[in-house]
Amino acid sequence: MPISSVLGVFICVSLVPNARLEHPISRRALVKENQDSSIPEQIHLSLGSQSNDIIVVWSTALNVKGFVEYGTTEDKLDKSISSNQELRQNSEQAAKFIHRAELKNLEPGARYVYRVVSEDSGLKSEIFTFDVPHQHPNRHDIFLMVADLGLRTKSLQFLVHEVLNYKYEAVFHIGDIAYNLDHEGGNLGDEFMKRIQKFTSCVPYMTTPGDHEKEIQHGKDTFYHYRHRFSMPNAPWPMTEESLWYSINIGHAHFISINTESLNPDTELGMKQLEWLRQDLLEANRFREFQPWIIVMGHKPLYCTKSVMEQTCDKENSPLRDVLEDIFYEHGVDIYFSGHKHCYERSWPLYNGKVFQNDYINPMAPVYIIIGSMGYEYILDLQRSDPYWLAFASADKSKELFGRLIVHNSTSLLWSVHAAASNEEVDKIFIKQKSHGSFGTPGPGAFERNQEEKSNREKLPQEPFYIVDPEVPWHFQYRRILLSLFVFCVSLVLFLFLRHSKVRKILRL
Ligand SMILES: *[C@@H]1O[C@H](CO)[C@@H](O)[C@H](O)[C@H]1NC(C)=O
Repeated sequence: MPISSVLGVFICVSLVPNARLEHPISRRALVKENQDSSIPEQIHLSLGSQSNDIIVVWSTALNVKGFVEYGTTEDKLDKSISSNQELRQNSEQAAKFIHRAELKNLEPGARYVYRVVSEDSGLKSEIFTFDVPHQHPNRHDIFLMVADLGLRTKSLQFLVHEVLNYKYEAVFHIGDIAYNLDHEGGNLGDEFMKRIQKFTSCVPYMTTPGDHEKEIQHGKDTFYHYRHRFSMPNAPWPMTEESLWYSINIGHAHFISINTESLNPDTELGMKQLEWLRQDLLEANRFREFQPWIIVMGHKPLYCTKSVMEQTCDKENSPLRDVLEDIFYEHGVDIYFSGHKHCYERSWPLYNGKVFQNDYINPMAPVYIIIGSMGYEYILDLQRSDPYWLAFASADKSKELFGRLIVHNSTSLLWSVHAAASNEEVDKIFIKQKSHGSFGTPGPGAFERNQEEKSNREKLPQEPFYIVDPEVPWHFQYRRILLSLFVFCVSLVLFLFLRHSKVRKILRL
């Protein structure tokens, strides 16, 4: 009976895999594995379009639905918001699914508790707490500023403790994240986001894209992981390449984050961003009474000292300076923060290569600060120059530094820089600005005009300084009066005309 024995063997062989699946222990293991892959991980917060909207982003390895439960106390998580989710490519080792939920219109200054839940498995994250940024005009705001931060940063855990122990409204990470988010199929990005979850789950983590986030494919910047992993204000999600810039008001400050990787004015994208920046600054100046401080962040610097690595700002004619410096000057940007160079550098108030003053009392030009010293040591500063505009610099590789920005009120701001491991204070300045606004008309002669204004200002120390534009023709000033006079005359003529008896007769009035 050769046929039946062949058939018998065939049936047995085909049953073996089923038999394995039927085994009770194996099935339990499979279910367990599935559950583990639906654990919410890499939970991080960011601010939505206004500072009392909080966005929660997290990842799972499995494609599961999830939601955020939140409330004001631990036993009253009475609200819930579901996530919309997005598949991420190129990631065999890493978590593949990213979720985002938006908690809108929260109470400014209030404390909330929340946890993230995966729907089918019911797996929950631990419970986290966050404080919504307050909107108290009489209270100060504290921000942590850092750039070039990744897994190779030696003092990463110290930074985590710093954020948890000091009351920050938000953390700003000005580009170059994890080194790199997309490496090892996204595994490296996942690892970094897990390592910093301790603070990003409690304090809004605001990012700016840097050159390490570009992910060039077929000669084109894609920013793929950056656009999916983060959700920044006024952008769709996943963010598009045309929404990698944003601004947000927090307390007395208007923060602007720009993408220095796409600022070439010869490209459509570059033009778009520059146009947006101009519009945003115009708008911000309209509300300067409420947010007097304008702080811009971009990964690459406009001014930096020389280094072995060819940097954008080392070249005689920096393309970034060409497109940004006039805009910053005209619209009165108080500080420009950047990274890229792995050191700390602070300039005097400066425009067009000229230092306007050697202090920070009523600065008459923007101040440029590089806070990139958390980056790993690939830049050896053999060629550091000591230019006239440099007020302070630190490139001590034994100290990884972060910055603390305290906006006291509309006229006073404190900037200090600390070593993350020891908390030693390395630098500290007060910036006092009595009259925020445009520094003047950019272009040649700006320095001379500014010096003249400065000497005028010194003659009148107690008075706020107003810039009067002498170019306005006299009839512009009297236009409203002339218009009123014209309307009055027309009305009078009409009145007299209607009173005339013949006219009255015709009209039968
Ligand atoms: C602003 O804050 C500084 C520093 O705390 C303080 O000295 C100053 O008096 C404050 N100014 C106003 C107008 O409140």
